[in-house]
Amino acid sequence: MKILVTGGAGYIGSHVVLELCNSGYEVAVLDDLSNGNQESIDKRAEFILGSTLVKKDVEKALNNVECVIHLAAFKAAGESMANPIKYSQNNINGTITLINSMIKKGIKYFVFSSTAAVYGNPKYLPLDEKHPLNPINFYGFTKLEIERILGWYGKLTDLKFANLRYFNAAGHDPNNRINHIEKDPQNLIPIVMEVASGKRKQVKIFGNDYNTKDGTGCRDYIHVTDLATAHIKSIEYLLNHSNITLNLATGDSHSVLEVINMTKEISNKNINYEFTERREGDLDELYSKSSIAKDLLNWSPNNSSLKSIIQTSWNIYSKKLLS
Ligand SMILES: NC(=O)c1ccc[n+]([C@@H]2O[C@H](COP(=O)([O-])OP(=O)(O)OC[C@H]3O[C@@H](n4cnc5c(N)ncnc54)[C@H](O)[C@@H]3O)[C@@H](O)[C@H]2O)c1
Repeated sequence: MKILVTGGAGYIGSHVVLELCNSGYEVAVLDDLSNGNQESIDKRAEFILGSTLVKKDVEKALNNVECVIHLAAFKAAGESMANPIKYSQNNINGTITLINSMIKKGIKYFVFSSTAAVYGNPKYLPLDEKHPLNPINFYGFTKLEIERILGWYGKLTDLKFANLRYFNAAGHDPNNRINHIEKDPQNLIPIVMEVASGKRKQVKIFGNDYNTKDGTGCRDYIHVTDLATAHIKSIEYLLNHSNITLNLATGDSHSVLEVINMTKEISNKNINYEFTERREGDLDELYSKSSIAKDLLNWSPNNSSLKSIIQTSWNIYSKKLLS
């Protein structure tokens, strides 16, 4: 079976491509390299340089494909509030161009990178898939809008879809096969990695008075290899079952200070940090059950201890930034 991975040169996409190739799938990647690295793509995959916004690029990439895993998007919540047009064009228009082209070509299976941001402020924890959907940033809205379109398309066309709502993706391939580092990181762990390796002076911690174990924000970090495995299991599921929407998380959360302390321990480097003002919209804590993934896909996060996440990231950041 040939699978197209859009955004396959990016952080999560490159790990998905690796696991697909290792599982024997034929893989094509469509990426415009706006935020990806071509070197991160497994050599067994075909690479098409192009955009989901350009119909002829999409049609070329869909050649002989039976299933699409769609990761190509912009992902910075803060930027999406400052520049909503950039996000609606890429995340909504690009996805509609892709799924409409798939339907015209009779390609049925679609795995969509959704996000915990579709939920907004948690009304209870751990979150589950029944939690109300009320995004508090435009990025989350763009993902929810696509989930809604997929809901309709699932009823009106032959398209079958899996909405995978990732929590905080983190870590790197445990066998160090992907040397991917983020270009302009907005997330905590790559920023901490840059400080540990001397590329950045300090970590800014936005607030120390949250209602959490140590006052800093707590998040559910899911290892990128566990995410990749869930994509493969979702495809296998869709071939014989109906559409699914599920959370991919660990059910546990770690604070900013825990991330910093674990990085200090593993890297043996000092990590400077300073506390600054809270950012608007940041939550105390977020974590989720993944009962649907466990029950329907027989999936569980095997690589997602904080130690494994930090160790696998440090292996790559120290290799790339200290050499
Ligand atoms: N990183 C996370 O914690 C997280 C959490 C929830 C959801 N997600 C979603 O997962 C997906 C992948 O995230 P990531 O962290 O790997 O980001 P990333 O930026 O590393 O990867 C995205 C890739 O898509 C490419 N791209 C962007 N727009 C494109 C377009 N129009 N056409 C072709 N290629 C395009 C970029 O060049 C990049 O290689 C995104 O859809 C993101 O919203 C990520």
